[in-house]
Amino acid sequence: MNNAAIGFFDSGWGGLSIMKAARVVLPHEDFVYVADCGHAPYGDRSHEYIVERSRAITDFLIHEQGVKAIVIACNTATAEAANKLRSLYPNFPIIGVEPAIKPAVENSRTNVVGMISTTRTATSVRYQELLARWGGNAQVISAGCPGLMECVERGELMAESTIKLLHHYLDPMIAAGIDGLVLGCTHYPFLSEAIDSITDGKIRLYEPGMAVARHLQNRLSDIDALTTKKTSAEEIFFVSDLNDERQKIAQALMPGITEFRALP
Ligand code: DGL
Repeated sequence: MNNAAIGFFDSGWGGLSIMKAARVVLPHEDFVYVADCGHAPYGDRSHEYIVERSRAITDFLIHEQGVKAIVIACNTATAEAANKLRSLYPNFPIIGVEPAIKPAVENSRTNVVGMISTTRTATSVRYQELLARWGGNAQVISAGCPGLMECVERGELMAESTIKLLHHYLDPMIAAGIDGLVLGCTHYPFLSEAIDSITDGKIRLYEPGMAVARHLQNRLSDIDALTTKKTSAEEIFFVSDLNDERQKIAQALMPGITEFRALP
């Protein structure tokens, strides 16, 4: 059990931003990552569709890959499916990802904060609860941003069209005086450089990677499931609708990865 891998999944490559942090915190753990590219974007799908995909991938990771924990490396799947997955697997560690509203509000001087995510996350009940809990008296400007995850999936991190789309979503927030921007989709940390080029690096970006990685470490430690290996970790990437282009883009986002397989 201790030396079983940890499973991650996302609608595509965004979850690599979470896995990168997990690599730092847990350097000897093996990872199995599922990129559900063939069914993306989740952000434009129905609740039922996202729950069904999340359940199928969780079953695959637990029953066919024998993972010891799962990280839902996707805000949208966490918002729509985490409760369902936890009810199906009540004693199994399932870690979710949520927009980092709390630190952004706590650190804000202008008391105005932006949050960008998929439309589904921004309109989810779970996000409204998060806002009610941590939003305090700050003005939190939330925007669903269709099209943005696709820029990352195409590897167009600094393309003119990407910058233009970012302007479309961010300009009203900048005009409203935000001093923090919560990246509420795991794809968006890959757009940090593009966002900084628009804000001159003056708006602080909040992403949850390290917090999620530490939470994962604590959960594994609590149930005594941390690996005992001291060797370097192994990583496998299962992809729905795998093709050369998808593989190349993943390698650009996370240099050095090689082990790609088609998701059965
Ligand atoms: N990376 C995902 C998230 O964090 C979703 C992208 C999508 O499939 O729309 O919400």
